[in-house]
Amino acid sequence: MCGIVGYLGEEKALGVLLEGLKRLEYRGYDSAGVALVSGERLHVVKSVGKIRELERALRDVEPEGTIHLGIGHTRWATHGRPSEANAHPHVAGPIALVHNGIIENYLEIKRELEEEGYTFLSDTDSEVVARLIFHHYGGDLFEAVREALKRLKGAYALAVISEEEPNCLVGARKDSPLVLGLGEGEFFLASDIPAILPFTRRVLLLNNGDKVLITPQGVSIVDEAGVAVERPVQRIMWSIAQAEKAGYKHFMQKEIFEQPRALADTLRSYISPEKGEVYFPQAALDDASRWRRVTMVACGTSWHAALVGRVWLEPLVGVPVEVDIASEFRARDPALDGDSLAIFISQSGETADTLAALRLARGKGARTLAVCNVVGSSISREAHGVIYTHAGPEIGVASTKAFVTQMVVLYLLALRLASDRGRMEKEEVSRRLGVLLSLPGKMEEVLAREGEIEGLAREYFQVKDFLYLGRWLNYPIALEGALKLKEISYIHAEGYPAGEMKHGPIALIEEGLPVVAIAPRDRVYDKMVANVEEVKSRDGEVIGVGTQGDPLGQRVDRFLSIPPVDEELTPFLTVLPLQLLAYFIADRKGCDVDQPRNLAKSVTVG
Ligand code: G6P
Repeated sequence: MCGIVGYLGEEKALGVLLEGLKRLEYRGYDSAGVALVSGERLHVVKSVGKIRELERALRDVEPEGTIHLGIGHTRWATHGRPSEANAHPHVAGPIALVHNGIIENYLEIKRELEEEGYTFLSDTDSEVVARLIFHHYGGDLFEAVREALKRLKGAYALAVISEEEPNCLVGARKDSPLVLGLGEGEFFLASDIPAILPFTRRVLLLNNGDKVLITPQGVSIVDEAGVAVERPVQRIMWSIAQAEKAGYKHFMQKEIFEQPRALADTLRSYISPEKGEVYFPQAALDDASRWRRVTMVACGTSWHAALVGRVWLEPLVGVPVEVDIASEFRARDPALDGDSLAIFISQSGETADTLAALRLARGKGARTLAVCNVVGSSISREAHGVIYTHAGPEIGVASTKAFVTQMVVLYLLALRLASDRGRMEKEEVSRRLGVLLSLPGKMEEVLAREGEIEGLAREYFQVKDFLYLGRWLNYPIALEGALKLKEISYIHAEGYPAGEMKHGPIALIEEGLPVVAIAPRDRVYDKMVANVEEVKSRDGEVIGVGTQGDPLGQRVDRFLSIPPVDEELTPFLTVLPLQLLAYFIADRKGCDVDQPRNLAKSVTVG
């Protein structure tokens, strides 16, 4: 989730690139860089930190004269920690490249190029793409890019230049966005519209698989099949603030809709469905056969992901799995030893209680593993190993896309440990990975029903209390649904394991109390249906979340459906309508959705 910009035109490229990068900084900001071509020479300046650090670095080395061609990048680290070497642009011979996305087969290509004698300066997948283009380069950059891309698996948006072709800017995209801006005698490339809005409102949205060659004479585009195509010019009417949210009203709403992509990116980084393998960094797992016990520790939404993860891990891996809230874990002086794998889950990687719990576990000799979204964060650095989620920067305080990526990492971990411990055959891993790959499409289907959920929010936004019920994998989703509603709409909401209803919450049920019952077709479905009847017979109003076409739809007052899916994977779908319900209720109430009162995105005090 980085930001990229490219410029070819009559203005000074550097000013345009810096202005564009500042507009993308909200997406990622651990390092930045530019490459400019002047006098057939490539000038590359990079720095760790925000764009203002880059500006400082440029003051000393800014090349003279008016430069008309350049590319720039602001990085949100995925492969390799934030450092100058890992910052973009990456240079190979006369070529400089900026990249947004994840290349799945970069290690394989890297090995081949190393055998050919190429050396690498960074840990990134992006540098591999730059060297591969150089490998194919014979003076025609567009041709070399097209050739190189044939080898790549994964997602990318690229902008590439060569000092040997100062009148040529090349772009390409697959599963990562890239837009082309048209000015008066000038052209812009950018991963996101906000970067080019200060300069032009006329844009071409490139299609998946498009490659574009930009010269002072104009633009030529070829599609995925290599056929020359034209893309319509559109006029963007958004304000810059709207554009940062890609036209959504709030970051949270944008992030909810980014979840299929976030899940696909995270999956893509770690799996080979054909081989039935899950790849994690070696340090992450150490010797998987050693663990006699797994402990997971987290706060807030990340704790809910851990609760879901336990349900997957325990039966598949065959060891006891405990889940703790970080502040409670610290307080109770847990018994851990060298046979324990302790997993710390945190979007930010900076939550004070989770960090303190990690230090405590390390002190007791446990092997520690971080599951984090922010590369180079404290928790990711202090754990023995780390697996990153690839949700991209999450800006809304209420976590959404980080949650689904945390869940998928934990599911992959369960498959990997089960396979390493000889409890699951490769064919079964392969089958399950195939099913996982169908999830983003199903998530899109659920999200497409936002109108229905918005309608529901209109009916319920003035209610004072909500109850959320679920069992098994969907008990943590009940907790998460209730948390989302509390966090952003300030409505009192409780999540409960439905089996516990008779031991207390049933006393709350009276006419009009909305009860969200999560009851997809799974092993606890019948019991959930019985709970729904109990609520109905006490005049509660049931909002059911269940499987498309299920008779439950006739028994409840409102029904939000998810497409059929393996019973183990329902949380990826059931959580979506609950996030949307909370979002639309909060918006309807006029609450500050992205920055709810009293809450912080990253709680750095324990
Ligand atoms: C805060 C945020 C939550 C988040 C929790 C844990 O409370 O508002 O959205 O789930 O911290 O944060 P972490 O970064 O450790 O996942």
